[in-house]
Amino acid sequence: MLLLLLLQLLLRSTSSAARNRCVDAAEACTADARCQQLRTEYVAQCLGAGAGGACPRARCRRALRRFFARGPPALTHALLFCPCADPACAERRRQTFVPACAFSRPGRAPPSCLAPLDTCEHSGVCRPRLLAFQASCAPAPSAPDGCPQDQASRCLRAYAGLVGTAVTPNYVDNGSARVAPWCDCGASGNRREECEAFRELFTGNRCLDGAIQAFDSWQPPVLQDHLDSSQDLEHSLLQVSSTDGPLKGCSLLSISLPWLSRLCSD
Ligand SMILES: *[C@@H]1O[C@H](CO)[C@@H](O)[C@H](O)[C@H]1NC(C)=O
Repeated sequence: MLLLLLLQLLLRSTSSAARNRCVDAAEACTADARCQQLRTEYVAQCLGAGAGGACPRARCRRALRRFFARGPPALTHALLFCPCADPACAERRRQTFVPACAFSRPGRAPPSCLAPLDTCEHSGVCRPRLLAFQASCAPAPSAPDGCPQDQASRCLRAYAGLVGTAVTPNYVDNGSARVAPWCDCGASGNRREECEAFRELFTGNRCLDGAIQAFDSWQPPVLQDHLDSSQDLEHSLLQVSSTDGPLKGCSLLSISLPWLSRLCSD
């Protein structure tokens, strides 16, 4: 009888429903020297004061890119994709990378998505990452399940690579796992279709949604093998480009996504 009770207690305390997975992920990062240091750096940058009292967004974003490029992916991805069953967890997940500085401009209306898209297009940092995201996450009509082959983990890696760029995405609220960059297509004029096509890579993308929902591989740090931590994001991005090539993505989608063919053409 006592044994049964103990067993029940044990099961309850380890069942995922009873835990806030995002708190677990934060604790795991704290316990890892490298993860902790990189996170401390971006939090310090993103909460710092910049010129005129605004946050130093460029420095904040750079520190975030370093966090995801150099931190152990098992830990950084757990912070970004921790599965949540309640708003407290989802709110924590949404606040992971200081979105008030890195993502949105509080108190202002979001810009047209064409603005961050144009900025990204002209950025040597952003453009290859957006192409990698497109190649790894966009639905692929010719594939058996409609998504790029073996795409889930590559898609999450490419998504994480966008955090800290001009098209930084985040969870849109604490009641869902939907993600989007901070922008809309209300005032996009005669480029509305282009704007929607870009936004739907995030908001209407079942391959991305599926990859995020399938993220459930996080293990307590004692069980973790950090072998993959030396492989940084730049390297993964290069792999994406050399195996599938942005070119394949380009030819696939240049018809429906004119902005992409512009990215591909030079
Ligand atoms: C979820 O978001 C709403 C709206 O932004 C907010 O009022 C609420 O406090 C959030 N819930 C939690 C648990 O933080």
